[in-house]
This record gives sequence, C-alpha cells and structure tokens, in this order.
Amino acid sequence: MAEKDLQELFLDTLKDIYYAEKHILKALPKMAKAANSDKLKTAFEKHYDETEDQVDRLETIFELLGKPARGKKCDAIEGIIDEGKQIMEEYADTPSLDAGLLAAAQSVEHYEISRYGTLKAWAAKLNMPQAIKLLDETLEEEKKTDEALSKIAETAVNYEAAA
Ligand SMILES: [Fe+2]
Repeated sequence: MAEKDLQELFLDTLKDIYYAEKHILKALPKMAKAANSDKLKTAFEKHYDETEDQVDRLETIFELLGKPARGKKCDAIEGIIDEGKQIMEEYADTPSLDAGLLAAAQSVEHYEISRYGTLKAWAAKLNMPQAIKLLDETLEEEKKTDEALSKIAETAVNYEAAA
C-alpha cells in the first residue's frame, strides 16, 4: 500500500474511534446509573474519566496530523451501544441487569482494543512516534478496563444473577 493511502486510512480510522469515544462518553453515565453493583458503578465512573483523557489524546493526534478533530459516523459502535440500551430496558429491575451491562461494556472495550491496536500498528508504519505513544497509553487503559470488568463479572455480578 502506498504511504499516502495508509495515511488516509489512518485518518479515517482516527475519525471512527473519535466518534466512538464521544458516544461512549454519553453512554457511560447512563450505564453507571443503571448498574446495581457498586463495583460496577465505580468501574464505569472511572472509565468515564479515562475516556475524557482518551478523547484528548485523539485530539492531540489530529493536531499532529494538522487536521481538525472530527468524527465519522461509526455504525459498529452505535450498534454495540444500542444493544446495551436494549439490555438496560429489557432487564431493568432484574438480577441479570449487571451481567448484561458487563457484557455490553466488554464488547465496547473489545471494539476499542481492536481499533487502537490497528491504529498503533499503522502509526508505526507511518513513523509517528508521538502518536504511537498516545495510542499505546489508551490501548493499555482499554485492556485494563476489560480485565477489571472480567474480574467484576467473575465475582459479584454473575453470582448474583445466578442466585
Ligand atoms: Fe475508550
């Protein structure tokens, strides 16, 4: 692939994840409010703060590219978040609500991990060391969040759902 094409693809994918992060910022407070488990509430609140930093990092990368920070509609994240909304409605006031919220949140994390992994690899090919560092910081945060959610799923939440 010619370098120019990869640059365009990088910018396009940056817009995709920028749009996704902004959507996640809107969804997380609703998920925190809906969650029954205090641990899960706290995890969502913590990740809200991290997501604000992640948006800032993306804006820095747009600056590095000399491009305005702009999102591009991402159908994938909209679909994943819509599923989460459905779970909140269908399972409200049931013991399985938290298990459903966790599953929705983990699918969001997996989408992000995939995107940031790709962007980091492309930033390396495009020889953008600052972008690699910023993308890696976010990638590590997303992985840690995914692990924290897995732990919560193994302990409090799924146990209560099965009780
Ligand atoms: Fe994120």
